[in-house]
Amino acid sequence: MTAPVTVDLMDPELLRDPFHGYSRLREQSPMAQVVYGDRGSSLWIVTRYADVRLVLSDRRFVNNPGNVPGMRIQDPRTEIFRKMGIDDEYAPYLLRSVLDADGDEHLRLRRLVSRAFTARRVAALLPRVREITGQLLDRLPERASPRDGAVDLLEHFAYPLPITVICELVGIPEEDRGRWLGWSRALMRSHETEHFTAAIRGIVDHVEALVARRRDEPADDLLTALIGVHDEDGAVLSEFELVTMVLTIVLAGHETTAHLIGNGTVALLTHPDQLELLRTDPAALLPRAVHELMRWCGPVQGARFRYAAEDVEIGGRKLRKGSPVMASLVSANFDPRRFDDPHRLDITRQPDGRRETHLGFGHGLHYCLGAALARQEAEVAFAALFDRYPDLCLAVPPEDLERIPMPGAWRLSALPVRLTPT
Ligand code: HEM
Repeated sequence: MTAPVTVDLMDPELLRDPFHGYSRLREQSPMAQVVYGDRGSSLWIVTRYADVRLVLSDRRFVNNPGNVPGMRIQDPRTEIFRKMGIDDEYAPYLLRSVLDADGDEHLRLRRLVSRAFTARRVAALLPRVREITGQLLDRLPERASPRDGAVDLLEHFAYPLPITVICELVGIPEEDRGRWLGWSRALMRSHETEHFTAAIRGIVDHVEALVARRRDEPADDLLTALIGVHDEDGAVLSEFELVTMVLTIVLAGHETTAHLIGNGTVALLTHPDQLELLRTDPAALLPRAVHELMRWCGPVQGARFRYAAEDVEIGGRKLRKGSPVMASLVSANFDPRRFDDPHRLDITRQPDGRRETHLGFGHGLHYCLGAALARQEAEVAFAALFDRYPDLCLAVPPEDLERIPMPGAWRLSALPVRLTPT
């Protein structure tokens, strides 16, 4: 067998343009060896659509290395968190979420959560999503810099919208939301270890207190519903599972959505023909446009590492039991074997009937729990933003927009726009 192709996930060129970078890699090799910081050699990445789906949906892959039969693989994050000073009291909340569960345990968690986090609950939120969006848009002109009239749309719109929505959904009181914004900023800048650690502590303590409060004072919110769920066998979420679930939902649910709104806005502004088309029939085209934006510039480009639970043949290679493998969502989403002319943004691209074709929300067992909510927020955000500010434009050339250099994520550092022509 030939020596495997190697890819450095921190390669500046790959971080700058992952779309073409991963396309080159995919055509070179369906499976490549990954170098990532001081983790190297034994990590793999799969790049083709069919293989990415397989890794995400086949039970021969597990999310938790502790679940590889007959092996004792240490979760690399354990060491990272220890070095960051996140002590043993708090680390489990980050290491044992629904994304770390496999098999029956995962099914049980998903089943219970789905009873509380229903399509009806998401749909019922729609009027509030519209209202919050409208209020944020109203306030944008006040946010303009007196120096050059530019507004950071990420800070003043794309971020506050999903955090406010998710807090309302879960039942986080209004007076505590400012603290969540602070924590989420600290988590974003994870290189500032001290702030990161303080944020984790703050979040866990806060959610624990909130769970205790909701047990005494039930309300019409997701947290109260999660406390009340049980399945046919009487199984309920434990205290630890409740806290972990709430913090996972809030953390997984706002930052990603914020960056879908940010990336999608840039995509539409830099493809005026597509924006024009969207304006001709927003009601019909918005769901498809969001589907396409998720494919073309989705904020999550790589799924969490999976571990082979047995030897598996994939991408023309034999992956050894216990090997970690990343499913590259960005590479799959630009695979010409699945999408015609994949680099073209085309908001009329058809999903397969009602099924999503892109993998931006993952696939299979761990498919995103909040996809319906994220889509709903993005649809409302784009519709209202371009309706309210028809002359919206970027305040800097698109190539000057800064991105956070993070493998597996596609995020802006800021999104300076002008609301009206100067
Ligand atoms: C899982 C993306 C919004 C909650 C995932 C996964 C992806 C993803 C790719 C699968 C990860 C993997 O298999 O390794 C996104 C994107 C979003 C978004 C791109 C916004 C544009 C949300 C929202 C919520 C949420 C709004 C909650 C309200 C979750 C949870 C999981 C998950 C709890 C874990 C599911 C499981 O392990 O079974 N998301 N997500 N996400 N997402 Fe999202």
